[in-house]
Amino acid sequence: MKPVEIKKDVFWVGAVDFGCHNFHGYSIAPRGTTYNCYLVKDEKNVLFDTVQNHHSEDMITRLKEVIEPEKIDYIVVNHLELDHAGCLPKLVQMCKPEKIFCSVMGLKSISGYFDTTGWPIHAVKTGDVVNIGKRNIHFVETRMLHWPDSMFSYIPEDKLLISNDAFGQNIASSMRFADEVDRTGLELAIEEYYYNIVLPFSPQVTKTIELAESMGLDIDMIAPDHGLIFRNKEDVGFILNKYREMAEQKPQKRALIFYDTMWHSTETLAYQIGSGLESVGVPYRIMFLKNHHHSEIMTELARCGAVIAGSPTHNNGILPTVSAVLSYMKGLRPQNRVGGAFGSFGWSGESVRTITEWLESMKMDLPSEPVKCQYRPTPEALQAAVELGRKVGLALIDKVNGK
Ligand code: FEO
Repeated sequence: MKPVEIKKDVFWVGAVDFGCHNFHGYSIAPRGTTYNCYLVKDEKNVLFDTVQNHHSEDMITRLKEVIEPEKIDYIVVNHLELDHAGCLPKLVQMCKPEKIFCSVMGLKSISGYFDTTGWPIHAVKTGDVVNIGKRNIHFVETRMLHWPDSMFSYIPEDKLLISNDAFGQNIASSMRFADEVDRTGLELAIEEYYYNIVLPFSPQVTKTIELAESMGLDIDMIAPDHGLIFRNKEDVGFILNKYREMAEQKPQKRALIFYDTMWHSTETLAYQIGSGLESVGVPYRIMFLKNHHHSEIMTELARCGAVIAGSPTHNNGILPTVSAVLSYMKGLRPQNRVGGAFGSFGWSGESVRTITEWLESMKMDLPSEPVKCQYRPTPEALQAAVELGRKVGLALIDKVNGK
């Protein structure tokens, strides 16, 4: 794969990782990911970010097609997580840059990860500007998007925002631009990435977009460090709006039912709950946790205003698959959801209480008592499950309508 000139004298020199299917616990199968980094050629030549260390040779080969590395004057480290800074020591040794820029918060991470003895590090903050010839780099700190050290680099002369993790997607592709791929798949990848990485930082997303607007940044290209680049005003508007909407977490009229089951009793309740949702006109999806990774559950949640979770009682608690999803979900801090719990049991029956506690800890509205059945669902339990679906559905409709 060749370097790609994305603007005059601005080159993509990153690496595409088709083989990475797990990103610290977030399943990105089957697509893989891309570590983007960018070279700007000007009076001062600047490299923005690097790649995962095990893709360094790939990136360096590509870089060398555009420039001799020793001619790189500055390296900008927008983020220290190792998917972007993994081969920084190699690049520093090779380029011997005059300056390395990172955020004030990045100072701690850069020396925490690497032996930075002798590195010409300069900490920058929002509002700082560095001239590189015909262009200026404006730095914008974006704390917690995705780490405390994260920042954007904006080049007004090119109307280019290099946004690091924000606006990314885990997509490995020979294409470089968002307008070259199927839009439905792209949107799903954006939601998947947001709901598995960015969601807890939604307040910062809103603030960052507001800050960019208040600074009057004129942008016609957003180049993230993962996935595809948005290269025209229409696509820039699309991704900014998508982020605004996802950060808002407005309730959506759709429900997610997920469960695990031992002998199909909990599963039977799940389908009855679906019937209850259907009776009040709420679309839903049922996901069996033996078939779906916790990342898929979170991705589905992007389009669902209600979450109904089920487990049989197992060792006085819930099945580990269900507990893993609830723990993962809570960490990602979904807001503004309606919830419900169900499950079966043999003798003690704690599962619904455990699930309810998880949902309450996520501050979900719980409009119905949980539904549980002993051994096999009786006709009464089946009816109660339908009723649970109906009540959750009606509460969701009210929430969507702002009641
Ligand atoms: Fe893509 Fe926070 O690293």
